[in-house]
Amino acid sequence: MLKITFASVTLPSQHALILTVGEKQKLGEQGAKLDRKLGGVLKRAMAANHFEGKKDQTLVVVAPAKSRLTRLVLVGIGDPAKADAAAMESAGGAALAALGNKDTQATFLVDAFKGQNGAEAAAHAALGARLRSYRFDKYRTKLKPEQKPHLKTLTIASVDAAKARQAYAPLDKIADGVFLTRDLVSEPANTLTPETFAKACVELKSLGVKVEVLDERQMKRLGMGSLLGVAQGSLNPPRLVSMEWLGAEDEKPVVFVGKGVTFDSGGLSLKPAEGMEKMKYDMAGAGAVIGAMKALAGRKAKAHVVGIVGLVENMPSGNAQRPGDVVTSMSGQTIEVLNTDAEGRLVLADALWYAQENFEPRCVVDLATLTGAITIALGHEYAGIFSNNDALNDQLLSAGKNVAEPLWRFPLGDAYDKQLDSPIADMKNIGSRGQAGSITAAQFLQRFIKKGVAWAHLDIAGMAWLDSAKTTCPKGASAYGVRLLDQFVREVAESK
Ligand code: BES
Ligand code: MN
Ligand code: ZN
Repeated sequence: MLKITFASVTLPSQHALILTVGEKQKLGEQGAKLDRKLGGVLKRAMAANHFEGKKDQTLVVVAPAKSRLTRLVLVGIGDPAKADAAAMESAGGAALAALGNKDTQATFLVDAFKGQNGAEAAAHAALGARLRSYRFDKYRTKLKPEQKPHLKTLTIASVDAAKARQAYAPLDKIADGVFLTRDLVSEPANTLTPETFAKACVELKSLGVKVEVLDERQMKRLGMGSLLGVAQGSLNPPRLVSMEWLGAEDEKPVVFVGKGVTFDSGGLSLKPAEGMEKMKYDMAGAGAVIGAMKALAGRKAKAHVVGIVGLVENMPSGNAQRPGDVVTSMSGQTIEVLNTDAEGRLVLADALWYAQENFEPRCVVDLATLTGAITIALGHEYAGIFSNNDALNDQLLSAGKNVAEPLWRFPLGDAYDKQLDSPIADMKNIGSRGQAGSITAAQFLQRFIKKGVAWAHLDIAGMAWLDSAKTTCPKGASAYGVRLLDQFVREVAESK
């Protein structure tokens, strides 16, 4: 794993050097010094390559013969006065990618620019670089030497190294949470089952998190017929886990609830073969919740937060739930299961009810890879948010914006809710074909929210897995939601 250290600006004599540059080829104080020392090579390289210093633009040049450096990587941050935390993270990630996989060590000189807090800028650039360095090589036993990761140490050089190091400490814990989530989401479903996911939750005990795991028998006793109906077709038994972080006493907790379908075959309403392998990431909502809990506990957040994950595998079998079955949820409400592939909402129905019965939530936020329709609407740029509370909605939108995990709000309403009425039970689990599928899914969840409880549902189906890399994330599992939830807690529950 990449080691990140901090140092004050002494120009390195070896290995690679990364340098931040402002728009219009603007070098900072240290960059200008370096350029003079290297005989003006930076300015010449920028001019010759039309490198403007725009946000996330990169330029790699071979270091001049006189120095013992290998290469110089320039990374643009755009207008330095506008380069906020998210922009610096993005630049950090872009720079790490541009560096390539050749050097064993590199120095990242995060230059000081007017209008910017240099220590904060350096810390966030470091976070971006670490996030981009993620790899899931566990099952790749035949990597050639040149394919293995080479970069061992990244030294962040900043004029205020002590402050930068201090600012980075909690961010490193957030990255730990993100990496846990990426590991779980990347893990195939033959090794990541509800039981093994629950074990990962139990490991958070070492950070001081209170963890409780419910097995099938206990859930049956609680009447979780909706969740158990999904699980009954699988040989891998379900689990429901609550993780409580008591970073602040006697305060109503913020409660996060995650969909943890470790594999979604569709059940008897079987999915097509093509692309079914992707459904190992149908636990990404639960993945975001456990990662956020790890981040919060890791950085000792001063807040009371509960994370609950509903863990099941959705499989067809002789014992699987049939289309047309009627199940009774923990809330007492009955559900006609018309499509066994609309299983996430069935799992969340009981997990949400359990959350409200057992914790007195100040608000409930659920995350789920709930519908394919959300990707049709928003692509891979925004997750959808549905909320019964404008203030909660705005707080989540703000947190998402600040960590570059953006949300777009969708409507809720009675006319959509009506689509769920059933002639045989209290509701059916799908709406009308081809009509607002993401919204009717949210309406279904809302039927399991008690009066007066502030609630938001985040449909992250389009964001949990990337087919192409982003600046702060290689392709694959993104861990979308971890940073958003952490930031939400920071902005809403800790800022007192
Ligand atoms: N897990 C899927 C949604 C999904 C699709 C997540 C693609 C990530 C990528 C969910 O359980 C599902 O199957 N939803 C159905 C609902 C339908 C049957 C009403 C869907 O979106 O097609
Ligand atoms: Mn499904
Ligand atoms: Zn699903």
